Amino acid sequence: MDIERAVADHYGRTGIEAAILEALRAEGRDPDRITASDLSAADEFHLGWHAVTLDLIADLAPGPEDHLLDVGSGVGGPARAFADRTGCRVTGIDLTEAYVEAANALTRRCGLADRATFRVASALAMPFGARTFDAATLIHVGMNIADKAGLFAQVRRVLKPGGRFCLYEVMRVADGDIPHPMPWAATAETSFVETPETYRRLLATAGFAVGEPIDRSAQVLAIGRAMRERAARTGVPPLGLHVLIGPASNERMGNVMRTLESGTIAPVQMMARAA
Ligand SMILES: C[S@@+](CC[C@H](N)C(=O)[O-])C[C@H]1O[C@@H](n2cnc3c(N)ncnc32)[C@H](O)[C@@H]1O
Repeated sequence: MDIERAVADHYGRTGIEAAILEALRAEGRDPDRITASDLSAADEFHLGWHAVTLDLIADLAPGPEDHLLDVGSGVGGPARAFADRTGCRVTGIDLTEAYVEAANALTRRCGLADRATFRVASALAMPFGARTFDAATLIHVGMNIADKAGLFAQVRRVLKPGGRFCLYEVMRVADGDIPHPMPWAATAETSFVETPETYRRLLATAGFAVGEPIDRSAQVLAIGRAMRERAARTGVPPLGLHVLIGPASNERMGNVMRTLESGTIAPVQMMARAA
């Protein structure tokens, strides 16, 4: 099986920008007058959503002069948040054409096109020269990539010496079943969830100094509970990740939240520095 084709097919959908704009209208907003944060309920495809993105921004803290690479940038929510809040320039790459198209279109609507751009590319064959970027992010992407050694070698190559690499990934933290479908994979064939120890070892081999992992399970479970309580009180809001994931959203999100609750997987952050 061509894993990259299968991954792009898993995420790709038609009409993503239109569906997000429709949901915005249903919430009484004018899609012609939006900022990056207006989209955050639907464009952050990772556990903990916008709240965790804000934490990652605070931890990585790029400056306005920095050029950040967002590997597996999705529809661009995290990249827009970084550009909007810090003034840095962001280049996002992603396998999924429909996501890249939506990312660029939504970024233009938010008036951030001069600071955030997106292109179709594989994380395993990055179209950039050595030492191009000051910092990099990888947010819920490695679960789709078997060759993490190759991935980290690519990131190390395109980062300047001393450049920081912020990872926030779903990792295996105990034995136990990982059911499918998950938000990142319909079957086990395109799911490559690894332990924090494996991430640390492979990062070190690629030439990174790696900090202590941060397990964000408690934070994510609390946010998930609050979202469910709010939905029970006032209904599911029009703008949400379900717009991006589509009809399979409930089953996929249910599986990931239950497996997180069971303690088998965890959303883990790591900070690494290129030697
Ligand atoms: C769960 S989404 C996360 C998107 C984004 N980082 C976010 O947090 O909103 C995973 C993304 O990784 C992309 N991806 C998976 N494997 C990739 C690869 N080998 N190269 C580039 N992008 C990849 C997918 O296309 C998808 O957009």
